[in-house]
Amino acid sequence: MTDGASADSAVVLETDRLLLRPWRVAEAVVQRELWTERDPRVPPHRRIDADGHPTVAELEDSIRTNELWSSGLLAVERKASHDVIGYCGLVDTGRGAAGELELAFELLRRVWGQGYATEASLVVLDWARSSGHERLWATVWDWNTASRRVLAKVGFTETERKEVDPERGTTLFTTRRL
Ligand SMILES: CC(C)(COP(=O)(O)OP(=O)(O)OC[C@H]1O[C@@H](n2cnc3c(N)ncnc32)[C@H](O)[C@@H]1OP(=O)(O)O)[C@@H](O)C(=O)NCCC(=O)NCCS
Repeated sequence: MTDGASADSAVVLETDRLLLRPWRVAEAVVQRELWTERDPRVPPHRRIDADGHPTVAELEDSIRTNELWSSGLLAVERKASHDVIGYCGLVDTGRGAAGELELAFELLRRVWGQGYATEASLVVLDWARSSGHERLWATVWDWNTASRRVLAKVGFTETERKEVDPERGTTLFTTRRL
């Protein structure tokens, strides 16, 4: 696996099967599909509302204006088919210690179970390490077996910290030294 920056210094990370790179505006449809597929236990602000928001146009706008989509949560593109299947990257949620980022990932259901989240996460860990980060966090619902398994596979361990929501489940705080 390699990581680095392209000529215009956009982040581009590469693995055997994947490229992780900034989102393109036209790929807002993929983000909308991720929103529609979310588990009903995910909190309402992360699900499509009764009026259909966020719309594709709103997500396009977000890709244009929010740096998160160019240098944080990167589009995961399959090299063989050139399709974008979700995101993986780093985000500052403010839930870790100052300056410590969270690993986050989400993929379209049709590609689950092929090791893509694990492969993408490993190159993001390399990226974080080479950018000078010493520790990352990841939060995960206790019921999210697949995500917990991915985090365990790439070396995250559970901490004592938990947030209990009686309706939605418990958020587990996991961490990994780089
Ligand atoms: C979490 C997610 C990204 C995983 O993507 P993926 O590409 O399928 O992950 P991988 O194939 O790399 O690994 C999944 C692992 O979980 C295991 N797994 C998946 N579903 C499982 C289940 N219901 N019970 C037990 N294990 C399960 C798989 O067997 C695999 O482990 P293995 O390699 O030991 O067999 C994907 O399920 C997703 O997008 N979920 C919705 C968004 C989300 O939960 N994001 C994370 C928020 S913390």
